[in-house]
Amino acid sequence: MPGTTTHARLLAWIDELVALCQPDRVHLCDGSADEAAALADLLVAQGTLIRLNPALRPNSFLARSDVRDVARVEDRTFICTDDPADAGPTNHHRDPAQMRVTLRGLFSGCMRGRTLYVVPFSMGPLGSPIAHIGVQLTDSAYAVLNMRIMTRMGQGALDVLGDDGEFVPCVHSVGAPLAQGHADVPWPCAPDQITIAHFPATREIWSFGSGYGGNALLGKKCFALRIASTMARAEGWLAEHMLIVGVERPDGQRQYAAAAFPSACGKTNFAMMQPPAGFPGWKVWTVGDDIAWIKPAADGSLRAINPENGFFGVAPGTGWDTNPNAMAALYANCIFTNVALTPEGDVWWEGMSKDPPATAIDWTGQPWTPGCGRKAAHPNARFTAPLSQCPTVDPASDDPAGVPIAAFLFGGRQSHTQPLVVQAQSWAEGVYWAATMGSEATAAAVGQAAVRRDPFAMLPFCGYHVGDYCDHWLTVGAGLQAPPPIFRVNWFRKGEDGRFLWPGFGDNLRVLAWALDRAAGQAPAAEGPLGWQPPADALRWAGLELPAGTFGALQAVDPGPWMAELDDQQALFDKLGDRLPPELHQARDRLRARLRRQRGVWQSP
Ligand code: GTP
Ligand code: SPV
Ligand code: MN
Repeated sequence: MPGTTTHARLLAWIDELVALCQPDRVHLCDGSADEAAALADLLVAQGTLIRLNPALRPNSFLARSDVRDVARVEDRTFICTDDPADAGPTNHHRDPAQMRVTLRGLFSGCMRGRTLYVVPFSMGPLGSPIAHIGVQLTDSAYAVLNMRIMTRMGQGALDVLGDDGEFVPCVHSVGAPLAQGHADVPWPCAPDQITIAHFPATREIWSFGSGYGGNALLGKKCFALRIASTMARAEGWLAEHMLIVGVERPDGQRQYAAAAFPSACGKTNFAMMQPPAGFPGWKVWTVGDDIAWIKPAADGSLRAINPENGFFGVAPGTGWDTNPNAMAALYANCIFTNVALTPEGDVWWEGMSKDPPATAIDWTGQPWTPGCGRKAAHPNARFTAPLSQCPTVDPASDDPAGVPIAAFLFGGRQSHTQPLVVQAQSWAEGVYWAATMGSEATAAAVGQAAVRRDPFAMLPFCGYHVGDYCDHWLTVGAGLQAPPPIFRVNWFRKGEDGRFLWPGFGDNLRVLAWALDRAAGQAPAAEGPLGWQPPADALRWAGLELPAGTFGALQAVDPGPWMAELDDQQALFDKLGDRLPPELHQARDRLRARLRRQRGVWQSP
C-alpha cells in the first residue's frame, strides 16, 4: 500500500520533477516492512543486493558498489550562494543560476526506464520541536532501503507534514537512464558527472551520479549538516558532526556529552563504548554516532537530538574486541556495502575477527584469500543498521525533547604534539580548539596534506563560511548562562616506536568520566600552557596498567613543536580571513604567550 498525502506543494513538486526526470513509474513510499521486503526482492533479482544466509544474518544484504563510487566526493560537492564569500574558502562554490542550468541538463530524462521513489522522512523523532522533515526523490531503490534504516521514513513523516508543512526537497539520481530493452547493471552510477549541489537560500539539495553513502542518502550530510547548519545559524541552534553519548554512574546518575571527531576517527566506537575493566556498575548509553542537532532550551540548558535513526558505520576495524555493541547491532536487518562475502553466505571485513575466513569473495566480487595481498573489504566499506538494535541504545534517543548536553569533546587524529585531553579555560578558547582541530587523511579526502585542519569536524559539511560558523558558536555560547565545558581530546598520539600511546576504545571512558566530573565541578585539574589537564591521579585507573611514563608522554606539552603547531593552525586562519572572529586570534595569542613562558616540556603533576 503506497503512502498517501494531500500536501499540494509536495504533489506539485513531484509532478515537476517527474516531468523533468521522466521516470517510467512513481512510487510514494509508506516505509512499511512489506514495502522494504518487496524492494529488497527487486534488488536481489537485479543483482544489486545479495541476500545473506538467513540463518546467520536474517533479513540482511550485501551490496557491491561500482569501484568508482565508494565514498563521498568532496570536490564535486557545491554550496550555491549568490555571493561566493558566503560559502567561504573551505567550500566549493557555484553560482546558483548557473548550477540550475547544469542540473536541468543532468536531470533531464535521467530516470528513463526507472522508478522514481518519493521518500518522505523525519530527521529526528516524529513531531519533535527540534526535528525537521525532508522528502527525497530518488531512482535508487538501494537508497530507499538505506533511508528507511537511517531515518524515520514513510507515512509517519507524511502525517507530520500534513497539508502544508515545511519540508526540505532533496532530488537524487544515480544518473544512468535505462534505454528500452537494456538490462541494468548492479550498481548504476555516473562517476564522471557526480554533482552534489546545495542551495541554502531555498533549502534545496540536488545530487547526481552517485549511489554511495552521504552522496545518496541525502538526509545525512546534505540535509542534517550542510543545509541544517544554515538553518541553525538563522534560528539560533547548532547542527553538528557529533555523536551523543550518555554515561550512567553506579548511583544511577546520567550525564550526556556530544563529541565531534572527523570522519573515520572513532565516533561510532565512542558512542557505544564498552566500559573498561575497573568500571563496575557504569553504563554507556548511545543516542547517536554521527550527527547532533542541539538547541538552547528555555531552562538555559542545551538539548540535543540525533536526527538519524540508524548507523552508517565504517565496517573495517569494527570487531568483537573493538566495538562489541556495534557488532551486536548487526545481527539482522542490515545492509552491508563493499565488505567481503564468506562461503557460508555471511560478511567479513578486516578487523571483524582475528582469524580471517580461509576464502571469501572480496568487495569487488573477486575470489580472495588471506594471503592474496588485497584487502577483502574496501577501507570505506559501511554497514547500515537500525539504531534500535544497538544493545546500548538510549530510550531517550526517541525523546522529542532530546537530552541535556553537559560537555563537548573535540578530537582529531594526530600522531604528535596534541595531548590526550585538555580542557579549554573558556567557551571562546574551546571554540579555538574546535576550530583548529586537525586530522590525518580519511577515505573521502585522500591525496590531501598529511594533517588537514578540520574545524569542528565540519570542513566538508559546513553549509556556509567557516569563519561565520565560529562566530555563530561564540554567539550561542554567549547566550547560555552556564555553557558546557569544552575539551580537546586525541586518542591517536604515538610514541617514539610509532605505536599508539593510548589503548583507546573502552578506555576512552576514563577520559570522558573526568570530563563529565569536571562539568559537574567534581574533579581536580592542573593548569598547563594549553589549559586544564588532569593530574595523573584524577583519572580512574582501575583495570589499566599503563607502562611507566606513558601518561606523562600522552599529556606532555612541548613548547617547540607547539609553536610550530600554532603556526600551522594560523595557515587555516589566514585562509578564513576577516570573517574569523577576533576572539579566536586572541585565544591563539594567549596560547602563544603561555607557551613562551613555559620552560621545557610541561608534564602533568
Ligand atoms: P564517520 O562515520 O566517517 O563519520 O566516522 P566515525 O568517526 O564514526 O568513524 P569510526 O567510529 O567508524 O572510526 C573508524 C576508525 O577509528 C577505525 O579504524 C577504528 O579502529 C578507529 N578507532 C575508533 N576508536 C579508536 C580509539 O579509541 N583509538 C584508536 N587508536 N582507534 C580508534
Ligand atoms: C562521513 O564521511 O563522515 C560519514 C559517511 O559519516 S557518509 O555518510 O558517506 O558521509
Ligand atoms: Mn560522519
